[in-house]
Amino acid sequence: MAFMKKYLLPILMLFLAYYYYSENEEFRPEMLQGKKVIVTGASKGIGREMAYHLAKMGAHLVVTARSKEGLQKVVSRCLELGAASAHYIAGTMEDFSFTEQFVAKAGKLMGGLDMLILNHITNSSLTPFRDDIPLVRRNMEVNFLSYVALTVAALPMLKQSNGSIAVISSMAGKIAHPLIAPYSASKFALDGFFSSIRKEYSIAKVNVSITLCVLGLINTDTAMKAVSGIITTYAAPKEECALEIIKGTALRQEEMYYVNSFWTAFLIKNPGRTILEFLSLNTYNFDKFINN
Ligand SMILES: NC(=O)c1ccc[n+]([C@@H]2O[C@H](COP(=O)([O-])OP(=O)(O)OC[C@H]3O[C@@H](n4cnc5c(N)ncnc54)[C@H](OP(=O)(O)O)[C@@H]3O)[C@@H](O)[C@H]2O)c1
Ligand SMILES: *[C@@H]1O[C@H](CO)[C@@H](O)[C@H](O)[C@H]1NC(C)=O
Ligand SMILES: *[C@@H]1O[C@H](CO)[C@@H](O)[C@H](O)[C@H]1NC(C)=O
Ligand SMILES: *[C@@H]1O[C@H](CO)[C@@H](O)[C@H](O)[C@H]1NC(C)=O
Repeated sequence: MAFMKKYLLPILMLFLAYYYYSENEEFRPEMLQGKKVIVTGASKGIGREMAYHLAKMGAHLVVTARSKEGLQKVVSRCLELGAASAHYIAGTMEDFSFTEQFVAKAGKLMGGLDMLILNHITNSSLTPFRDDIPLVRRNMEVNFLSYVALTVAALPMLKQSNGSIAVISSMAGKIAHPLIAPYSASKFALDGFFSSIRKEYSIAKVNVSITLCVLGLINTDTAMKAVSGIITTYAAPKEECALEIIKGTALRQEEMYYVNSFWTAFLIKNPGRTILEFLSLNTYNFDKFINN
């Protein structure tokens, strides 16, 4: 107990202080100039706003979603805003062969890849879960499994560029809410998967950053329609949200939070998890996996 008081508590305090206040480097829009970026789910909502910000910063862009008309408009607006180049490839992430081929096509259009922004989600409404197993499957396939497949396809290019992956998640991927069980499952899965491979990359010295983006309610048309008459909390602006995602990803932060208050961000960071993950890493022997 004396040991605890003397050493462990101060060490934990330092650890937490570092953990909560270690955002030092500053973002500059030039960081994105000439960078080759993929944005999925970019025909509307937050994805479209991210494409517009990236265009203003002078990035090369390939955007995707299902709606060809939506994407065409986004591409021409991006060119007006100053994108170094802008293309679209339309298709559905429900089709696994599209998902697998998309990244290679996008990489060819831009001649490489620096940033992969995974943002698309399948449509679902707020409703109590009864027996809709196909909806759970669609959420897991589109919101989770396609993110894994896109990452696998992009990794060789991202390794070459010391690139970055943004994984767009939600408060519903960190804490439980009613009425969105299939969506929530897919967002929790993203945290489990991408937080796990982030640790592997750090051990194997793979210099590809993964930024899990935890968003509160954002005022996109889809979200406003879905929550209408059910949730009445404040919805934050999609333009600012999109910019914060780009900043956090360019700064290679492990997680970024765009939530409704300082206290929400403070509480959702879950220091218990951080400490336990840090301690558990020391119990592994990785020799077997390194250099092969
Ligand atoms: N808005 C919020 O309140 C909120 C809160 C927390 C987290 N988020 C997260 O932020 C991200 C963006 O949300 P948002 O509100 O901007 O959504 P949104 O406006 O509905 O946009 C979703 C995008 O995904 C595309 N999409 C839908 N089904 C697809 C499919 N089967 N295959 C490929 N693309 C498909 C849509 O285009 P098409 O229909 O043309 O395919 C659209 O471009 C999501 O990851 C979401 O979970 C949002
Ligand atoms: C999702 O969109 C499809 C058509 O694209 C529609 O048939 C389905 O009802 C929608 N599902 C929900 C839950 O909104
Ligand atoms: C990637 O990072 C390594 C180590 O910092 C560096 O040697 C290399 O030049 C970088 N490559 C690119 C393309 O930035
Ligand atoms: C990883 O890549 C980034 C971006 O190129 C670079 O700033 C950083 O120094 C690299 N880190 C390591 C450990 O090589």
